[in-house]
Amino acid sequence: MKYLFILWIIVSCAHQSGSKNTSSRLSILQLVTNESSVEFNILLPRGHNYQFSVITPEGKKHLALQSQVSEFENSEWVIQNIAFTGLKYSPEVFKLHVEGALKTEEVRDFRLFSQSKESFKFAVGSCADEKHIDQGVYQQIEARKPEWIFLIGDNHYPERLPISSPEYLWKSLITARQDFSLYHMQELIPTHATWDDNDYGMNNGDKSFTHREASQHLFKVFFHPQLLEENIHKGPGIASRLMLRGMHFSFLDNRSFRDAPSSEGEHFGQEQENWFFEDLQKEALPTWIISGDQFFGGYHEFESYEGLHPQRFDQFIGRLKNIQTPFVFISGDRHLSEIMQFPRAVLGQLSFEFTTSPMHAKTYPGSVEAKPNPWRVVGVDGTNSMMFFETHLEEQSWRIKPQAVGPKGEILFERQLSLTTERLKDFEADKPKQRRYRRARWRRR
Ligand SMILES: [Fe+2]
Repeated sequence: MKYLFILWIIVSCAHQSGSKNTSSRLSILQLVTNESSVEFNILLPRGHNYQFSVITPEGKKHLALQSQVSEFENSEWVIQNIAFTGLKYSPEVFKLHVEGALKTEEVRDFRLFSQSKESFKFAVGSCADEKHIDQGVYQQIEARKPEWIFLIGDNHYPERLPISSPEYLWKSLITARQDFSLYHMQELIPTHATWDDNDYGMNNGDKSFTHREASQHLFKVFFHPQLLEENIHKGPGIASRLMLRGMHFSFLDNRSFRDAPSSEGEHFGQEQENWFFEDLQKEALPTWIISGDQFFGGYHEFESYEGLHPQRFDQFIGRLKNIQTPFVFISGDRHLSEIMQFPRAVLGQLSFEFTTSPMHAKTYPGSVEAKPNPWRVVGVDGTNSMMFFETHLEEQSWRIKPQAVGPKGEILFERQLSLTTERLKDFEADKPKQRRYRRARWRRR
Protein backbone atom coordinates (compact mmCIF):
# COMPACT_ATOMS: atom_id res chain seq x y z
CA MET A 1 0.00 0.00 0.00
CA LYS A 2 2.83 2.34 0.90
CA TYR A 3 4.41 1.98 -2.55
CA LEU A 4 1.14 2.70 -4.27
CA PHE A 5 0.80 5.89 -2.29
CA ILE A 6 4.26 7.10 -3.27
CA LEU A 7 3.59 6.34 -6.93
CA TRP A 8 0.38 8.33 -6.82
CA ILE A 9 2.21 11.38 -5.54
CA ILE A 10 4.83 11.19 -8.30
CA VAL A 11 2.22 10.85 -11.01
CA SER A 12 0.12 13.65 -9.62
CA CYS A 13 3.16 16.02 -9.49
CA ALA A 14 4.16 15.18 -13.05
CA HIS A 15 0.68 16.06 -14.27
CA GLN A 16 0.71 19.49 -12.71
CA SER A 17 3.04 20.93 -15.34
CA GLY A 18 0.25 21.46 -17.88
CA SER A 19 -2.44 22.79 -15.56
CA LYS A 20 -3.17 25.83 -13.45
CA ASN A 21 -1.39 26.40 -10.19
CA THR A 22 -2.90 24.13 -7.56
CA SER A 23 -0.95 25.41 -4.56
CA SER A 24 -3.01 27.11 -1.89
CA ARG A 25 -0.15 29.49 -1.21
CA LEU A 26 -0.64 33.23 -1.65
CA SER A 27 0.47 34.89 -4.87
CA ILE A 28 3.61 36.82 -3.89
CA LEU A 29 6.26 38.57 -5.96
CA GLN A 30 9.61 39.54 -4.46
CA LEU A 31 10.67 42.87 -5.98
CA VAL A 32 13.82 44.96 -5.57
CA THR A 33 16.14 43.49 -3.01
CA ASN A 34 19.58 44.42 -1.75
CA GLU A 35 21.79 43.70 1.29
CA SER A 36 19.44 45.32 3.78
CA SER A 37 16.04 45.89 2.23
CA VAL A 38 13.37 44.07 0.29
CA GLU A 39 9.95 44.82 -1.18
CA PHE A 40 7.19 42.35 -2.00
CA ASN A 41 3.79 42.63 -3.61
CA ILE A 42 1.02 40.25 -2.59
CA LEU A 43 -2.35 39.49 -4.16
CA LEU A 44 -4.90 39.58 -1.35
CA PRO A 45 -8.68 39.51 -1.02
CA ARG A 46 -10.11 42.97 -0.55
CA GLY A 47 -11.30 44.13 2.79
CA HIS A 48 -9.16 42.04 5.11
CA ASN A 49 -6.33 43.16 7.29
CA TYR A 50 -3.02 41.35 7.20
CA GLN A 51 0.15 41.65 9.20
CA PHE A 52 3.53 41.16 7.64
CA SER A 53 6.81 40.37 9.31
CA VAL A 54 10.25 39.03 8.49
CA ILE A 55 12.18 36.61 10.65
CA THR A 56 15.95 36.82 10.09
CA PRO A 57 18.20 33.72 10.09
CA GLU A 58 19.16 34.68 13.70
CA GLY A 59 15.50 34.63 14.68
CA LYS A 60 14.98 38.40 14.95
CA LYS A 61 11.53 39.70 13.99
CA HIS A 62 11.06 42.83 11.80
CA LEU A 63 7.68 44.35 11.03
CA ALA A 64 6.96 45.84 7.59
CA LEU A 65 7.92 49.50 7.68
CA GLN A 66 5.98 50.62 4.65
CA SER A 67 2.84 49.38 2.96
CA GLN A 68 0.68 50.43 0.04
CA VAL A 69 -2.55 48.98 -1.27
CA SER A 70 -3.54 49.20 -4.97
CA GLU A 71 -7.21 48.55 -5.74
CA PHE A 72 -9.44 48.48 -8.77
CA GLU A 73 -13.08 49.49 -8.72
CA ASN A 74 -15.40 46.54 -7.95
CA SER A 75 -12.55 44.01 -7.89
CA GLU A 76 -12.49 41.63 -4.95
CA TRP A 77 -8.68 41.60 -5.08
CA VAL A 78 -5.99 44.09 -4.13
CA ILE A 79 -2.25 44.21 -4.62
CA GLN A 80 -0.48 45.12 -1.41
CA ASN A 81 3.15 46.22 -1.47
CA ILE A 82 5.20 45.88 1.69
CA ALA A 83 8.79 46.90 2.34
CA PHE A 84 11.32 45.94 4.97
CA THR A 85 14.46 47.99 5.53
CA GLY A 86 17.33 47.91 8.02
CA LEU A 87 17.84 44.14 7.74
CA LYS A 88 21.31 42.76 8.43
CA TYR A 89 22.70 40.87 5.44
CA SER A 90 23.11 37.13 5.67
CA PRO A 91 23.42 34.61 2.83
CA GLU A 92 20.99 32.36 4.73
CA VAL A 93 17.24 32.09 4.21
CA PHE A 94 14.91 34.73 5.69
CA LYS A 95 11.23 34.05 6.36
CA LEU A 96 8.31 36.25 5.30
CA HIS A 97 5.27 35.77 7.56
CA VAL A 98 1.79 36.81 6.44
CA GLU A 99 -0.95 36.63 9.04
CA GLY A 100 -4.55 37.49 8.35
CA ALA A 101 -8.16 36.86 9.13
CA LEU A 102 -8.83 34.31 6.39
CA LYS A 103 -5.70 32.33 6.94
CA THR A 104 -3.90 31.90 10.21
CA GLU A 105 -0.40 32.18 8.92
CA GLU A 106 1.68 31.67 5.79
CA VAL A 107 5.47 31.52 5.73
CA ARG A 108 7.64 31.90 2.63
CA ASP A 109 11.42 31.80 2.18
CA PHE A 110 13.51 34.51 0.56
CA ARG A 111 17.07 35.79 0.43
CA LEU A 112 18.62 39.22 0.44
CA PHE A 113 20.87 40.14 -2.49
CA SER A 114 24.54 40.97 -2.04
CA GLN A 115 26.20 43.23 -4.59
CA SER A 116 29.66 42.03 -3.68
CA LYS A 117 29.97 38.72 -5.56
CA GLU A 118 31.38 38.86 -9.08
CA SER A 119 29.30 36.07 -10.60
CA PHE A 120 25.56 36.36 -11.10
CA LYS A 121 22.85 33.85 -12.05
CA PHE A 122 19.56 35.03 -13.50
CA ALA A 123 16.67 33.70 -15.57
CA VAL A 124 14.85 35.47 -18.42
CA GLY A 125 11.45 34.59 -19.82
CA SER A 126 8.83 36.08 -22.12
CA CYS A 127 5.40 35.11 -23.45
CA ALA A 128 3.25 33.42 -20.79
CA ASP A 129 -0.14 32.61 -22.31
CA GLU A 130 -2.93 31.45 -20.02
CA LYS A 131 -4.35 29.30 -22.86
CA HIS A 132 -1.10 27.33 -23.17
CA ILE A 133 -0.26 27.14 -19.50
CA ASP A 134 2.78 24.98 -18.68
CA GLN A 135 4.26 25.11 -15.19
CA GLY A 136 7.35 23.23 -16.45
CA VAL A 137 9.45 26.34 -16.98
CA TYR A 138 8.58 27.58 -13.49
CA GLN A 139 9.62 24.21 -12.07
CA GLN A 140 13.01 24.78 -13.75
CA ILE A 141 13.28 28.09 -11.90
CA GLU A 142 12.62 26.33 -8.61
CA ALA A 143 15.20 23.65 -9.45
CA ARG A 144 17.92 26.00 -10.66
CA LYS A 145 17.41 28.82 -8.15
CA PRO A 146 18.55 31.85 -10.14
CA GLU A 147 19.25 34.94 -8.02
CA TRP A 148 16.92 37.12 -10.10
CA ILE A 149 14.15 36.57 -12.63
CA PHE A 150 13.48 38.96 -15.49
CA LEU A 151 10.11 38.85 -17.22
CA ILE A 152 10.57 40.73 -20.46
CA GLY A 153 7.16 40.95 -22.06
CA ASP A 154 3.86 39.25 -22.76
CA ASN A 155 3.98 38.30 -19.09
CA HIS A 156 0.25 37.62 -19.43
CA TYR A 157 -2.19 37.50 -22.33
CA PRO A 158 -5.57 39.26 -22.04
CA GLU A 159 -8.26 37.21 -23.78
CA ARG A 160 -9.00 39.83 -26.40
CA LEU A 161 -6.89 42.64 -27.86
CA PRO A 162 -7.20 45.55 -27.93
CA ILE A 163 -8.61 45.61 -24.45
CA SER A 164 -11.91 47.47 -24.25
CA SER A 165 -11.09 48.93 -20.82
CA PRO A 166 -8.30 48.85 -18.23
CA GLU A 167 -10.49 46.46 -16.20
CA TYR A 168 -9.62 43.75 -18.74
CA LEU A 169 -5.94 44.20 -18.01
CA TRP A 170 -6.52 44.14 -14.27
CA LYS A 171 -8.48 40.87 -14.56
CA SER A 172 -5.91 39.27 -16.85
CA LEU A 173 -3.09 40.25 -14.47
CA ILE A 174 -4.98 38.78 -11.50
CA THR A 175 -5.62 35.54 -13.42
CA ALA A 176 -1.91 35.17 -14.24
CA ARG A 177 -1.05 35.83 -10.60
CA GLN A 178 -3.42 33.06 -9.54
CA ASP A 179 -2.65 30.47 -12.19
CA PHE A 180 1.11 30.63 -12.81
CA SER A 181 3.12 28.74 -10.20
CA LEU A 182 5.84 31.37 -10.65
CA TYR A 183 3.96 33.43 -8.08
CA HIS A 184 3.43 30.61 -5.59
CA MET A 185 6.96 29.27 -5.10
CA GLN A 186 7.94 28.44 -1.55
CA GLU A 187 11.29 30.16 -2.08
CA LEU A 188 10.73 33.61 -3.51
CA ILE A 189 13.16 35.14 -6.00
CA PRO A 190 13.60 38.86 -6.75
CA THR A 191 11.88 39.68 -10.04
CA HIS A 192 11.82 42.65 -12.39
CA ALA A 193 9.97 43.17 -15.65
CA THR A 194 9.31 45.06 -18.81
CA TRP A 195 6.46 44.59 -21.23
CA ASP A 196 5.34 43.86 -24.74
CA ASP A 197 2.10 44.31 -26.65
CA ASN A 198 -0.04 41.82 -24.68
CA ASP A 199 0.83 43.48 -21.36
CA TYR A 200 0.17 46.83 -23.03
CA GLY A 201 -3.28 45.70 -24.14
CA MET A 202 -3.04 46.33 -27.90
CA ASN A 203 -1.72 43.91 -30.50
CA ASN A 204 1.45 45.43 -32.04
CA GLY A 205 0.53 48.46 -29.92
CA ASP A 206 2.05 51.92 -30.20
CA LYS A 207 1.77 55.34 -28.55
CA SER A 208 -1.66 55.98 -30.09
CA PHE A 209 -3.28 53.42 -27.74
CA THR A 210 -6.25 54.90 -25.86
CA HIS A 211 -5.45 53.16 -22.55
CA ARG A 212 -1.71 53.91 -22.58
CA GLU A 213 -1.51 55.68 -19.20
CA ALA A 214 -3.81 53.23 -17.39
CA SER A 215 -1.83 50.37 -18.82
CA GLN A 216 1.48 51.85 -17.62
CA HIS A 217 0.00 52.32 -14.16
CA LEU A 218 -1.27 48.75 -13.90
CA PHE A 219 1.99 47.28 -15.15
CA LYS A 220 3.93 49.17 -12.50
CA VAL A 221 1.47 48.09 -9.80
CA PHE A 222 1.97 44.42 -10.64
CA PHE A 223 5.67 44.28 -11.52
CA HIS A 224 7.58 47.28 -10.19
CA PRO A 225 8.51 48.37 -6.68
CA GLN A 226 6.25 51.07 -5.26
CA LEU A 227 8.06 51.80 -2.03
CA LEU A 228 11.83 51.27 -2.35
CA GLU A 229 14.16 53.06 -4.73
CA GLU A 230 17.35 51.11 -4.02
CA ASN A 231 19.26 49.75 -7.03
CA ILE A 232 16.61 51.03 -9.42
CA HIS A 233 16.59 54.09 -11.64
CA LYS A 234 13.23 54.82 -13.21
CA GLY A 235 13.01 56.14 -16.77
CA PRO A 236 10.30 57.38 -19.15
CA GLY A 237 7.11 55.30 -19.40
CA ILE A 238 7.75 51.96 -17.72
CA ALA A 239 11.50 52.01 -18.49
CA SER A 240 13.89 51.31 -15.63
CA ARG A 241 17.46 50.33 -14.94
CA LEU A 242 18.75 47.99 -12.28
CA MET A 243 22.33 47.97 -11.04
CA LEU A 244 23.25 44.45 -9.97
CA ARG A 245 26.75 43.13 -9.25
CA GLY A 246 28.49 45.88 -11.17
CA MET A 247 26.31 45.50 -14.26
CA HIS A 248 23.45 47.53 -15.60
CA PHE A 249 20.18 45.99 -16.73
CA SER A 250 18.30 48.55 -18.84
CA PHE A 251 14.66 47.55 -19.27
CA LEU A 252 13.29 49.61 -22.14
CA ASP A 253 9.66 50.53 -22.82
CA ASN A 254 9.01 49.43 -26.42
CA ARG A 255 5.33 50.52 -26.54
CA SER A 256 4.61 53.90 -24.93
CA PHE A 257 6.64 55.99 -27.39
CA ARG A 258 6.42 53.86 -30.53
CA ASP A 259 5.19 55.23 -33.86
CA ALA A 260 3.26 53.13 -36.36
CA PRO A 261 5.72 51.24 -38.60
CA SER A 262 7.53 53.68 -40.90
CA SER A 263 11.09 54.11 -41.97
CA GLU A 264 11.63 57.31 -39.96
CA GLY A 265 9.29 56.45 -37.04
CA GLU A 266 10.38 56.08 -33.41
CA HIS A 267 10.64 52.76 -31.59
CA PHE A 268 11.70 53.83 -28.08
CA GLY A 269 11.35 57.57 -28.62
CA GLN A 270 14.04 60.22 -28.31
CA GLU A 271 13.44 60.99 -24.63
CA GLN A 272 13.87 57.36 -23.62
CA GLU A 273 16.89 56.82 -25.85
CA ASN A 274 18.56 59.93 -24.42
CA TRP A 275 17.85 58.65 -20.88
CA PHE A 276 19.33 55.27 -21.81
CA PHE A 277 22.47 56.66 -23.52
CA GLU A 278 23.15 59.11 -20.74
CA ASP A 279 23.47 56.18 -18.32
CA LEU A 280 25.54 54.17 -20.73
CA GLN A 281 28.04 57.00 -21.18
CA LYS A 282 28.12 58.25 -17.61
CA GLU A 283 28.70 54.93 -15.89
CA ALA A 284 30.67 52.51 -18.03
CA LEU A 285 29.27 49.36 -16.47
CA PRO A 286 28.72 46.29 -18.67
CA THR A 287 25.11 46.64 -19.78
CA TRP A 288 22.28 44.30 -20.71
CA ILE A 289 19.92 46.19 -23.03
CA ILE A 290 16.48 44.61 -22.65
CA SER A 291 13.29 45.02 -24.68
CA GLY A 292 10.13 43.00 -25.30
CA ASP A 293 10.62 42.62 -29.05
CA GLN A 294 13.84 42.08 -30.98
CA PHE A 295 16.41 44.75 -31.76
CA PHE A 296 17.85 43.02 -34.85
CA GLY A 297 15.10 41.47 -36.97
CA GLY A 298 15.09 43.26 -40.31
CA TYR A 299 14.99 39.96 -42.16
CA HIS A 300 11.55 38.88 -40.85
CA GLU A 301 8.08 40.40 -41.05
CA PHE A 302 7.37 40.26 -37.30
CA GLU A 303 8.07 43.11 -34.91
CA SER A 304 11.63 44.36 -34.32
CA TYR A 305 13.32 47.76 -34.04
CA GLU A 306 15.32 47.14 -37.21
CA GLY A 307 12.32 45.92 -39.19
CA LEU A 308 9.71 48.49 -38.13
CA HIS A 309 11.75 51.66 -37.77
CA PRO A 310 14.91 51.18 -39.84
CA GLN A 311 16.15 54.79 -39.96
CA ARG A 312 15.91 55.30 -36.20
CA PHE A 313 17.46 51.86 -35.73
CA ASP A 314 20.50 52.88 -37.79
CA GLN A 315 20.87 56.01 -35.65
CA PHE A 316 20.52 53.95 -32.46
CA ILE A 317 23.26 51.58 -33.68
CA GLY A 318 25.39 54.57 -34.68
CA ARG A 319 25.16 55.95 -31.13
CA LEU A 320 26.04 52.56 -29.66
CA LYS A 321 29.12 52.43 -31.88
CA ASN A 322 30.55 55.42 -30.04
CA ILE A 323 30.16 53.73 -26.65
CA GLN A 324 33.16 52.12 -24.97
CA THR A 325 31.00 50.26 -22.46
CA PRO A 326 30.45 46.61 -23.39
CA PHE A 327 26.80 45.72 -23.94
CA VAL A 328 24.61 42.84 -25.11
CA PHE A 329 20.91 42.71 -25.97
CA ILE A 330 18.09 40.60 -24.54
CA SER A 331 14.69 40.28 -26.22
CA GLY A 332 11.65 38.00 -26.45
CA ASP A 333 8.34 37.90 -28.35
CA ARG A 334 9.38 35.64 -31.27
CA HIS A 335 8.05 32.33 -29.93
CA LEU A 336 11.48 30.87 -30.68
CA SER A 337 14.83 31.24 -28.90
CA GLU A 338 18.13 32.15 -30.47
CA ILE A 339 21.52 33.79 -30.04
CA MET A 340 22.73 36.32 -32.57
CA GLN A 341 26.37 37.37 -32.78
CA PHE A 342 27.43 40.74 -34.22
CA PRO A 343 30.98 41.29 -35.40
CA ARG A 344 32.87 44.43 -34.47
CA ALA A 345 32.01 46.04 -37.81
CA VAL A 346 28.35 46.30 -36.76
CA LEU A 347 28.57 47.82 -33.29
CA GLY A 348 32.24 48.77 -32.87
CA GLN A 349 32.71 45.82 -30.51
CA LEU A 350 31.67 42.21 -30.33
CA SER A 351 28.11 41.84 -29.07
CA PHE A 352 25.20 39.42 -28.94
CA GLU A 353 21.42 39.43 -28.89
CA PHE A 354 19.75 36.75 -26.80
CA THR A 355 16.11 36.10 -27.70
CA THR A 356 14.05 33.87 -25.40
CA SER A 357 10.41 32.90 -25.96
CA PRO A 358 7.93 31.50 -25.09
CA MET A 359 7.64 30.44 -21.45
CA HIS A 360 4.30 28.93 -22.43
CA ALA A 361 2.47 29.96 -25.60
CA LYS A 362 1.82 28.74 -29.09
CA THR A 363 5.00 27.55 -30.80
CA TYR A 364 5.83 27.23 -34.48
CA PRO A 365 7.94 24.15 -35.22
CA GLY A 366 10.26 24.74 -38.15
CA SER A 367 10.31 28.53 -37.80
CA VAL A 368 14.07 28.69 -37.16
CA GLU A 369 14.80 27.04 -40.51
CA ALA A 370 11.98 28.76 -42.34
CA LYS A 371 13.43 32.21 -41.61
CA PRO A 372 17.21 32.07 -41.81
CA ASN A 373 18.64 34.84 -39.64
CA PRO A 374 21.99 36.11 -40.95
CA TRP A 375 23.26 36.79 -37.42
CA ARG A 376 22.02 33.59 -35.79
CA VAL A 377 24.57 31.36 -34.08
CA VAL A 378 22.04 28.91 -32.68
CA GLY A 379 18.26 28.74 -32.41
CA VAL A 380 15.47 26.46 -31.27
CA ASP A 381 11.74 26.42 -32.04
CA GLY A 382 8.66 24.32 -31.30
CA THR A 383 9.17 24.27 -27.54
CA ASN A 384 8.53 26.32 -24.44
CA SER A 385 11.69 27.59 -22.73
CA MET A 386 13.42 30.13 -20.55
CA MET A 387 16.98 31.35 -20.80
CA PHE A 388 19.22 30.94 -17.76
CA PHE A 389 22.37 33.05 -17.60
CA GLU A 390 25.50 32.72 -15.55
CA THR A 391 27.72 35.73 -15.93
CA HIS A 392 30.81 37.01 -14.26
CA LEU A 393 33.30 39.77 -14.50
CA GLU A 394 36.85 38.58 -14.19
CA GLU A 395 40.26 40.14 -14.64
CA GLN A 396 39.97 40.98 -18.29
CA SER A 397 36.76 39.51 -19.47
CA TRP A 398 33.01 39.58 -19.13
CA ARG A 399 31.92 35.98 -19.32
CA ILE A 400 28.36 35.00 -20.25
CA LYS A 401 26.98 31.49 -20.26
CA PRO A 402 23.44 31.37 -21.67
CA GLN A 403 21.41 28.18 -21.53
CA ALA A 404 18.00 27.74 -23.17
CA VAL A 405 16.13 25.29 -20.94
CA GLY A 406 12.91 23.46 -21.76
CA PRO A 407 10.02 22.65 -19.41
CA LYS A 408 11.42 19.24 -18.48
CA GLY A 409 14.87 20.63 -17.72
CA GLU A 410 16.29 19.70 -21.11
CA ILE A 411 19.10 21.97 -22.31
CA LEU A 412 18.05 23.15 -25.75
CA PHE A 413 21.32 24.97 -26.39
CA GLU A 414 24.12 26.54 -24.43
CA ARG A 415 27.18 28.62 -25.18
CA GLN A 416 30.10 30.10 -23.29
CA LEU A 417 30.85 33.61 -24.44
CA SER A 418 33.58 35.95 -23.38
CA LEU A 419 33.82 39.65 -24.08
CA THR A 420 37.40 40.57 -23.36
CA THR A 421 38.02 43.94 -21.83
CA GLU A 422 41.20 45.78 -21.12
CA ARG A 423 40.83 47.12 -17.66
CA LEU A 424 38.33 44.88 -15.95
CA LYS A 425 41.10 43.83 -13.58
CA ASP A 426 40.53 47.18 -11.87
CA PHE A 427 36.91 46.24 -11.51
CA GLU A 428 35.12 47.50 -8.47
CA ALA A 429 31.48 48.47 -8.40
CA ASP A 430 32.23 51.96 -7.09
CA LYS A 431 34.98 52.79 -9.62
CA PRO A 432 33.16 52.52 -12.90
CA LYS A 433 34.74 55.56 -14.53
CA GLN A 434 38.24 54.12 -14.46
CA ARG A 435 37.40 51.37 -16.89
CA ARG A 436 37.59 51.23 -20.63
CA TYR A 437 36.58 48.35 -22.81
CA ARG A 438 38.05 47.59 -26.16
CA ARG A 439 38.92 44.16 -27.41
CA ALA A 440 36.38 41.42 -27.59
CA ARG A 441 36.57 37.81 -28.54
CA TRP A 442 34.10 35.02 -28.93
CA ARG A 443 34.52 31.46 -27.83
CA ARG A 444 32.29 28.67 -28.84
CA ARG A 445 32.02 25.35 -27.13
FE1 LIG B 1 4.22 36.62 -27.24
